[in-house]
Amino acid sequence: MQARARLQLKWLCHAERRLHDALRVACSVFESEGLAYGQGTECAFEDAAWLLLWSLDLPRDRLDDFRESQLSRAELRRFAGLLRKRVESRTPVAYLTSEAWLQGLCFHADPRALIPRSLLVEALAWCAEQGLVHAPTRILDLCTGSASVLVHAGLRFPQASLFGSDLSEPALSLAAENLNAHGIAARCDLRLGSGLSPWAGKRFDLLLCNPPYVKDAAMEGLPPEFLAEPRIALSGGSDGMHLIRPWLAEVAHFLDPDGAMLLEIGRGAEDFEAAFPGLDPVWVPVAAGPRMVAFLQQSQLLAYFLAEQPLQGGEQLRTS
Ligand SMILES: C[S@@+](CC[C@H](N)C(=O)[O-])C[C@H]1O[C@@H](n2cnc3c(N)ncnc32)[C@H](O)[C@@H]1O
Repeated sequence: MQARARLQLKWLCHAERRLHDALRVACSVFESEGLAYGQGTECAFEDAAWLLLWSLDLPRDRLDDFRESQLSRAELRRFAGLLRKRVESRTPVAYLTSEAWLQGLCFHADPRALIPRSLLVEALAWCAEQGLVHAPTRILDLCTGSASVLVHAGLRFPQASLFGSDLSEPALSLAAENLNAHGIAARCDLRLGSGLSPWAGKRFDLLLCNPPYVKDAAMEGLPPEFLAEPRIALSGGSDGMHLIRPWLAEVAHFLDPDGAMLLEIGRGAEDFEAAFPGLDPVWVPVAAGPRMVAFLQQSQLLAYFLAEQPLQGGEQLRTS
């Protein structure tokens, strides 16, 4: 930590201060130390506010109500310790606090799984509003990680049976905790395995998937905050499509004829189009961008991959 930041923390703990003083110092320290964001917060201010409200045990969405509150020196010392840890270890706030917030819901977060921030929750709300997704009864979350997406889907569609799978056993143990905390573990089947292999013989009417899609080149330059997350949750090969490519070719056989898939690809729209030329998804608009989540219907996927791979001798066309 730079000398200037150390002095700022010393000043903060020297006397009783107000909450807005603590917030200002934290923002300033985070800015000058060049921390990375994007794991549930977008900037130094959001990172600092979350850490501060958590350390004071205050509601995370009520900062303005407490700006003038006087903080004791013990509270300031505790907060300064957290700031130091955030800067020196570059641990993301979600892992420091063991919690992450996604679209109004709180999840347990720790290095067993990616910090919840998927665009799929926002995309699912849009699809439901547009009538693209209507009362699914069997929802699969492929690459479920912490299960934050599955929990949102399960609460949005209370009649649905839920299914989740992941290649990481630690992630699945965290998923089970989050499903339990949100009271929906009883209607969820969690399975360990790669891709669609745990679901042989099953059919779903909605498949959600936020796969690892960070390109090799980008993996090399990841800031320490992102390296604190499981590498298996991020790494998507040379074009970010290494996992998606084989899975997409199979997905239609796991979907009902009127089923659909929502696939998050981040900033990979061009790589997606290069990997699947002519496959024309509905791009679901989310606040982060217009082409980051693809909506694909079963019939569309089936037709596309049948056309891509002509039938071998004797093989039957599978349409349902
Ligand atoms: C980008 S994270 C998404 C986690 C969660 N759905 C979310 O949105 O926060 C990708 C997840 O895919 C899992 N994963 C990686 N390779 C896999 C594979 N071959 N089969 C199944 N899951 C895999 C990782 O363990 C990780 O939990």
